[in-house]
Amino acid sequence: MAYGLLKGKRGVVFGALDEHSIATHVAKRAIEEGASIVLTNAPVAFRAGTINKLAEELGVEAIAADATSIDDLTNLFEKAPEILGGKIDFVLHSIGMSVNIRKKREYFDLNYDWMQKTYDISAISFHKMMQVAHKLDSLNEGGSIIALTYIAADRTFPFYSEMAEAKAILESYARSFGYHLGERKRIRVNTVSQSPTMTKAGSGVKGFAEFFEYSDKMSPLGNADAESCADYCMTLFSDLTRMVTMQNLYHDGGFSKMGMHPGIMTGELRII
Ligand code: NAI
Repeated sequence: MAYGLLKGKRGVVFGALDEHSIATHVAKRAIEEGASIVLTNAPVAFRAGTINKLAEELGVEAIAADATSIDDLTNLFEKAPEILGGKIDFVLHSIGMSVNIRKKREYFDLNYDWMQKTYDISAISFHKMMQVAHKLDSLNEGGSIIALTYIAADRTFPFYSEMAEAKAILESYARSFGYHLGERKRIRVNTVSQSPTMTKAGSGVKGFAEFFEYSDKMSPLGNADAESCADYCMTLFSDLTRMVTMQNLYHDGGFSKMGMHPGIMTGELRII
């Protein structure tokens, strides 16, 4: 159901790779809610072809930008307001990639060059996009910026490896930049801490399927899926949440507040 929550708003959505991507669901919902958007992803994602297909399906433009490149981000935040006919009201950062996880390195044997690349792509890119967009004056007063994160920033989930630290940095940027953008332009910056979700990034993590089930059982509402995450993002991009900023907001069916689950302890609820 659409409520016209984003009627007349303009947005930039990073990270739609295929039909499973959380950003793909956000892009679709934003259009349903009345927004006009530009999609963006790394140049390599364009080679796979799915982003162009999605852009065509949604009737929007897609601009290639490596989120670690200031030049690419400058081009993006110059072009997007031109394409959309005005300054940007909302931005979704839905980007994550760990080189050490991809190369299956254990946490006590990490490669530090790869680690820096992981931080650049998964966290520093968030600062870069806000800094570039702000310097170009591409962001509208009263806008809203969201980055997706995971609870491993705050508690130990060993399989999440160096991504835990990447997400901790990401969440901190939301607080720090949230202050500056709030003071200057009443722009909110928040992170949404999402349940495990079956996507390319999610399923690249070792033991993900088992953990997905564990998390689903531990959460009183079950795991939140990508569609419900997109719904939540709609509220955060809308004016209804105009006083919410610098927060890490859990969208996880209650997982983050559970201590123990009686069913799992007694064995009534079995995992796998
Ligand atoms: P996904 O694999 O569909 O999306 C990740 C995106 O990052 C892809 O579109 C990829 O092309 C993009 N990307 C990678 N390097 C880039 C670069 N240099 N420049 C620009 N874009 C780049 O996976 P998903 O799950 O939709 O991930 C989106 C966000 O949600 C990530 O931040 C992820 O950490 C977060 N998240 C995912 C969870 C999950 O279980 N899937 C749980 C909690 C958070």
